[in-house]
Amino acid sequence: MSNSAVKFKNVEKKFAAETIIEKLSFEVEDGEFITILGSSGSGKTTTLKMINRLVEPDGGTIEVNGQSIEQIDLIELRRNIGYVVQQIGLFPHLTIEKNIATVPELLGWDKEKILVRVKELMELVKLPYEQYGKRHPKQLSGGQQQRVGVARALAANPQIMLLDEPFGAVDAITRKELQKQIKSIHKELSGKTFLFVTHDINEAFYLGDKVMIMNNGEISQYDTPKNIVTNPKTDFVKELLDTIYEEEALWRELK
Ligand SMILES: Nc1ncnc2c1ncn2[C@@H]1O[C@H](COP(=O)(O)OP(=O)(O)OP(=O)(O)O)[C@@H](O)[C@H]1O
Ligand SMILES: [Mg+2]
Repeated sequence: MSNSAVKFKNVEKKFAAETIIEKLSFEVEDGEFITILGSSGSGKTTTLKMINRLVEPDGGTIEVNGQSIEQIDLIELRRNIGYVVQQIGLFPHLTIEKNIATVPELLGWDKEKILVRVKELMELVKLPYEQYGKRHPKQLSGGQQQRVGVARALAANPQIMLLDEPFGAVDAITRKELQKQIKSIHKELSGKTFLFVTHDINEAFYLGDKVMIMNNGEISQYDTPKNIVTNPKTDFVKELLDTIYEEEALWRELK
């Protein structure tokens, strides 16, 4: 049996008097690529942030690798979890090399080891060190910056990656390219667990081993893409799939 990398049990979150998430329970197995899909404000970012304790739940338990996150030292927890934020969030005054090296430097790795790691990661995200290492973020395109964000999150070799709409602000062709790359990165780094938030249904179904569909702080359905499409469980999921089928019909008509 495989182990669970992340496990939510009856997790609750309130902001002021408003309950955002009520009794959220789910499990992600070691090595899986999970996508979390849902409308704006449905609680996707909040769910991710509770895993690395940027947001504290008001009830229930969250386990990472079988251990309650309250019992894991916060620095240790975050070292084991890479995080790519919704807005790219690179440090504008640092070179690409320095941006990627942020966490290894904080961890006190020696210079040699950091350089090897930076070069390896830049290779992985297809931005050769020689060409891009000494540039600053503003000298890169949006899509390239997104890839630096991914490389930076991978720097200390975390077991779990949280990606919050990492490909939000790029054109459709670049986005497709980035999706292919992130899929192959996940495959290449076998055994790592990815939780990837998106509100793009195509992206969610293309990338996820399983898709978690959220609506108003609840899981509407959590299953493989195939099972969701062949057996949508709720009206919300049916509506979501209908938007795709309508689009498909439009394109067919135009041909
Ligand atoms: N710090 C906060 N204080 C108060 N309310 C918050 C806070 N953070 C989030 N919320 C509220 O919680 C709800 C869920 O927010 P969240 O950011 O998790 O949504 P999301 O699914 O990531 O949406 P999006 O797709 O727009 O990023 C929203 O109604 C939001 O306004
Ligand atoms: Mg969000």
